[in-house]
Amino acid sequence: MNHFNYKNNQLFCEKVFLGDIAEKYGTPIYIYSKATLLHHLDVFKKAVAIVNGTVFYSVKALSNINILRLLSENGAGFDIVSGGELHRCIQAGVDPKRIIFSGVGKSKAEISAALKLGIHAFNIESSEELERISMISELLKQRADIGLRVNPNVDQGGHEYIKTGRKDDKFGISFAEAKELAKSYKDNPHINLIGIACHIGSQILELDGFETAAKQMLALSIELSAVGCDIRFIDMGGGLGVQYNGEETKTPDELLTVYAKIFKDRDEEIYIEPGRAIAANAGMLVTEVEYCKNNFLIVDAAMNDLIRPALYQAKHKVHEVVNNKVSKKTFDIVGPICETGDYLAKGVELSCKTGDLVAIGTAGAYGFSMSSNYNTRPRSAEILVDGDKFTLIRKRETLSELIANEVES
Ligand code: LLP
Repeated sequence: MNHFNYKNNQLFCEKVFLGDIAEKYGTPIYIYSKATLLHHLDVFKKAVAIVNGTVFYSVKALSNINILRLLSENGAGFDIVSGGELHRCIQAGVDPKRIIFSGVGKSKAEISAALKLGIHAFNIESSEELERISMISELLKQRADIGLRVNPNVDQGGHEYIKTGRKDDKFGISFAEAKELAKSYKDNPHINLIGIACHIGSQILELDGFETAAKQMLALSIELSAVGCDIRFIDMGGGLGVQYNGEETKTPDELLTVYAKIFKDRDEEIYIEPGRAIAANAGMLVTEVEYCKNNFLIVDAAMNDLIRPALYQAKHKVHEVVNNKVSKKTFDIVGPICETGDYLAKGVELSCKTGDLVAIGTAGAYGFSMSSNYNTRPRSAEILVDGDKFTLIRKRETLSELIANEVES
């Protein structure tokens, strides 16, 4: 569900014509719908209520502080994976008690910062990390709340690079190791072992992998409780897939119904960490056609703005900002970057000419947040639409900002 619709052949976000935003702020530009973001959060909040659970929005999907503030004010918690994301959350006014810190490579500085702020929990991914956190907690005289992230060995996810739950992936620890660590740390004065976690992958379109993982998590929680651990949460991670181009998807309700069956009669709180399913369909990337050449539409956005097609062969749907309904041709939409891999979509039917605007759909998640300055291209601006109003929430980068950190030797 989203709030991008045609009215009289013009593409609107809520009540704003995308062409008006492009005219005011230029292109390429990311445009997000506040109503879609809040609707998605609400659907997850209602779904998770059946298991007495909590939504921890995965910051990496779309991390502008205005979006974080919006979601925070509307009841989201946050799943972070870096000191940078922690900083963003704090800048956005998020209560540290609503932050969970995941990720395989937390540095000493990141752990200290999060401990000092008093975040809700670290989901740890190795015994060395747990040892490091314990040492830092001792130094800071602050007990760390910990979840053990395990790897349930399920093969799920929309692309090789975004599968995270197979036993040979770098994520999590084995169930056997989790049990060992639980035994050796349960009476540790610096560590408070309060949860278990998993995240099996991303852009998952079926429920069976989530179900297999959840059953294993339940069994683990029971075993850890039996050895005297006080497991208060089971974090099932994110991963629910969205529709990019006609795929059948599962709803948050369907997912939580699966979890509810498995975790019925349990006291642990169930956490979920959706990123994509909240942000993806809430955003589009609008770009202008610079040139038409044979079957190529060369646009002013590129793989530095949206890397998903180049990196994962993702197929984002493309929309004409003004659908003039004249005869269509098949185009590849490519950017100005000097690589053949620099494309945004292939084989799309459009009736576009130089100067027209096209919108790349489902770009709200892992769009701007994965953008870069490759080819010394400033990152685009971001806009939040609310009804008939639109607000600049990130300025387009300037050329001087691009080189500001380069020191002359
Ligand atoms: N929790 C953890 C621990 C994660 O690593 C992730 C995503 C999430 C939650 C959120 O997953 P989601 O609900 O968004 O599927 N850049 C890739 C996606 C990478 C996802 C990484 N981890 C893409 O553009 O498809």
